[in-house]
Amino acid sequence: MGEVFVTALRSVSLKVRQGEFIAIVGPSGSGKSTLLNLLGTLDTPSEGRIFIDGVDTSRLGEDDLAALRNTKIGFIFQSYNLINRTSVMKNVAIPAVVQGLSKEVREKRATELLKMVGLGDKINRRPTALSGGEQQRVAVARALVNEPTFMLADEPTGNLDSKTGRSIVELLQRMNRNLGTTTIVVTHNLELANVTDRVIHLKDGVVSQDLPTTRTASKQKTQ
Ligand SMILES: Nc1ncnc2c1ncn2[C@@H]1O[C@H](COP(=O)(O)OP(=O)(O)OP(=O)(O)O)[C@@H](O)[C@H]1O
Ligand SMILES: [Mg+2]
Repeated sequence: MGEVFVTALRSVSLKVRQGEFIAIVGPSGSGKSTLLNLLGTLDTPSEGRIFIDGVDTSRLGEDDLAALRNTKIGFIFQSYNLINRTSVMKNVAIPAVVQGLSKEVREKRATELLKMVGLGDKINRRPTALSGGEQQRVAVARALVNEPTFMLADEPTGNLDSKTGRSIVELLQRMNRNLGTTTIVVTHNLELANVTDRVIHLKDGVVSQDLPTTRTASKQKTQ
């Protein structure tokens, strides 16, 4: 920041296992979004390395990083970031263009996902004709269309009332369980943090706590 060097994160070391559902929590300014942006390769660390499926992302150029983001990572934002001038179905289908799939296959996949998130009857609407919670459901479907290795969500319930927020939490939990997609969520919402497998606490740019939740214990017991 001009002459001032800001350290947003330091000495963070963590391993994410396939299929995990993780919450990142911590006070404002603690580095949560920075960590998520690094994991999503939207930002690069000044020191340290990030491996995704065994690939050292610091060795990839911009084109390879873009391809990795498109195929392996699903992003969900607080403000949905949908394209309002086109249909809900197209919003979900568009990211699949990079896969080289036919229009028919893309639209079939988008329609199936929209049914899974409970919007099967609204696929031809524009996003602006949906509620906030419904728009976030579209964003979840869009994040999953390329069958990503993992999903990253930065405060996905931040713009929603508590009841609608809860339904998005339940949706993320259901998608994690049913599809096995590794999911990492930044949240201030403790209800969301409580349904995950593991909660990582950040404080002043360092991991102050990284613990499995009771959900993990009961999951392991039943296995
Ligand atoms: N572009 C930037 N330039 C300078 N400093 C930045 C920039 N982005 C973030 N920071 C600083 O880095 C630190 C971490 O910011 P970050 O956005 O990761 O926090 P956060 O935990 O996501 O906060 P919030 O809960 O408010 O979203 C903060 O001290 C912030 O002021
Ligand atoms: Mg943030």
